[in-house]
Amino acid sequence: MANMSERAAAATPAGAVRGGDPMQPEPWRVVRSTPETHDTFTLTLEPVEAGPPFTFEPGQFNMLFAPGVGEAAISMSGCSGRVKQVAHTLRAVGRVTKSLQRLKRGEVLGLRGPFGTAWPIGHAEGHDVVIVAGGIGLAPLRPAICHILQHRERFGRVNLLFGARSPRDILFAREIETWRGRFDVNVEVTVDRAGPGWHGGVGVVPPLISRAQFDPASAMAFVCGPEIMMHFTREEFARRGVPEEHLWVSMERNMKCGVGFCGHCQLGPLFVCKDGPVFRYDRVASLLGIREV
Ligand SMILES: Cc1cc2nc3c(=O)[nH]c(=O)nc-3n(C[C@H](O)[C@H](O)[C@H](O)COP(=O)(O)OP(=O)(O)OC[C@H]3O[C@@H](n4cnc5c(N)ncnc54)[C@H](O)[C@@H]3O)c2cc1C
Ligand code: FES
Repeated sequence: MANMSERAAAATPAGAVRGGDPMQPEPWRVVRSTPETHDTFTLTLEPVEAGPPFTFEPGQFNMLFAPGVGEAAISMSGCSGRVKQVAHTLRAVGRVTKSLQRLKRGEVLGLRGPFGTAWPIGHAEGHDVVIVAGGIGLAPLRPAICHILQHRERFGRVNLLFGARSPRDILFAREIETWRGRFDVNVEVTVDRAGPGWHGGVGVVPPLISRAQFDPASAMAFVCGPEIMMHFTREEFARRGVPEEHLWVSMERNMKCGVGFCGHCQLGPLFVCKDGPVFRYDRVASLLGIREV
């Protein structure tokens, strides 16, 4: 009888996983660990062993294994394609992410991936794009933003609407300023709670959709953040007349295998790890809010 690794390998598209066995973490070395905010940081990694290049699409994730602690699903946050180094931006919330936060340059962790579906950027070409992110949800969208800005002429109007809890929680703040400085991207940032010296917007993200400039009939929207934010975001898009089929969301569910075997990430008939994490909204609308296993 085939073991889990063999069954996982059989189910994973050939060549998709660098090491060949999707259940076997490969050793990757920390190139640098960069603090982003008080509780988030970006880990840039490179493979310890020579091998085929690592290739991923915006929205996909890796399973990062903190030695002696465990694994967590973490999205790639750098520019996509064939890369020598891979960036992941994490919020230190629990055992695995806090352990990964303590890793220093040169230390080694385990990595399996890339896994999951990607933002349908190709389908967005020729259309206006609205990117809506809440908190750490900006990390899985950053490769999509990078791709769109690198191929800016292929897209219509581009809006980035981002919400954070407070000014000190704004992820990639310097990069957001750079994006904001471009004449061909509309960037709106809002915070739940303002602090001294904050002159930007205050409030939740979904209302920003009502003011954004895009063609509701054809615009594509990519959304990542807390499920409650996705719910209200969908309502605002509906008010603007954006069809649900043009709305894509990235779902987060606790993962174990990452390749569709253990059932840990099951959401109704779907496995978030292999059918997602990026879903067309109408496929998961009725499943949002279902409690995790
Ligand atoms: C496809 C996908 C992509 C993801 N991408 C990213 C990403 O790019 N960056 C990122 O940071 N995360 C990402 N996540 C989320 C990440 O995988 C989870 O947060 C993971 O559970 C972290 O593991 P952990 O062991 O550090 O935390 P866990 O121990 O699993 O804790 C997870 C949750 O439980 C809460 N918690 C933990 N300990 C306690 C406690 N003692 N009391 C109360 N609550 C507690 C935490 O607040 C947190 O909300 C992604 C998840 C998925 C499914
Ligand atoms: S994490 Fe095992 S089935 Fe998705």
